[in-house]
Amino acid sequence: MAKVQTKEEEIIPEQVKMEKEKKIKKSSKASEKTFLETIAGIGPTTRKRLEDAGYGSKEAIALATRSQLTDISGIAEKTASLLIREARARFDLGLKKATTYEEAAKTRVKLTSSSKAFDDLLGGGFETGSITELAGENGCGKTQIAHQLAINCVKYLDLDVIWIDTEGTFRFNRIVQIAKASEIDPEKVLARITVGRAYNSEHQMALTEEALTMVPNVGLIIVDSLMSHFRSEFAGRATLAERQQLIGKHLSFISKQAEILNCVGIVTNQVAAKPDAMFFGDPNKPVGGNVVGHTVTTRLMIRKGKATKRTATLTKNPELPDGKIEFAITSEGVRDHIK
Ligand code: GTP
Ligand code: MG
Repeated sequence: MAKVQTKEEEIIPEQVKMEKEKKIKKSSKASEKTFLETIAGIGPTTRKRLEDAGYGSKEAIALATRSQLTDISGIAEKTASLLIREARARFDLGLKKATTYEEAAKTRVKLTSSSKAFDDLLGGGFETGSITELAGENGCGKTQIAHQLAINCVKYLDLDVIWIDTEGTFRFNRIVQIAKASEIDPEKVLARITVGRAYNSEHQMALTEEALTMVPNVGLIIVDSLMSHFRSEFAGRATLAERQQLIGKHLSFISKQAEILNCVGIVTNQVAAKPDAMFFGDPNKPVGGNVVGHTVTTRLMIRKGKATKRTATLTKNPELPDGKIEFAITSEGVRDHIK
């Protein structure tokens, strides 16, 4: 008669296997050395000093300057040079062949604005892989453009949208209205937009990071608006450096993710009067200083005209000439301006 296998007999070999695996994991963990432990001549005291100063990993050291390391007490020039050399040898700093960029450029897609003139200004539309800033005064239409782009992302790219809303201006009924006018089922669009209502700058950064890591098929991320919380929370000169550092971190993250995920990054921004305003040109400039100016790839200034008329001025893009066009914000969304 064949032996009937009992429940215990089935379980025991599994348990033995798991215990064995646990032991292997434990022993390999014990033998895993940290980067600093692998460097001959770095004793426990130096190691602790480096770790306490935030230089415990090869990544942190590879990106550090020699003076940053020698500023730590007890770290000599020679040690700093050795550590940086070793860290850089074991860390991919990101050198790439130019052909890699050519490959990446081929995968870039343009998202239409629904206005031919606007698309032409942008060489075909809003490009994936980088951040475009929409800057302008209250009511010029930044949030309206964002609504249209969200719909177009679902309609033309068939991809998801992340909307980080810092001012409570995302309007589902505006999505419904513009989607209907754009001949796409509003429910289909709404189902693909993930909205994060950010109540302060910390929340804004956390929501952005979570959304960009959780949402599966992102074609567009909108941060509307980028600076409102930062401006109200970090008022005054004393906190300016900290504010700029946080904005830099926030924008760099979005920029990097836009590149990796190959999605369109949109940040809206307020403007402030230039302190040295002249009698010609635009008297306003986007807020956020050089950090924002340098990190965004494309910068557009939006201005309100009569009735539905608007103008968009391209002031920064690495491969397009500056230019200015007219377009319209209508009940149906973004459209060409009809003279
Ligand atoms: P802030 O967020 O305050 O800086 O402004 P914004 O640039 O985001 O402005 P927003 O996109 O909210 O634009 C608001 C303006 O869009 C309104 O003042 C109207 O001129 C226009 N607008 C909004 N909805 C409609 C609509 O249904 N029909 C028409 N014709 N215009 C609209
Ligand atoms: Mg707005």
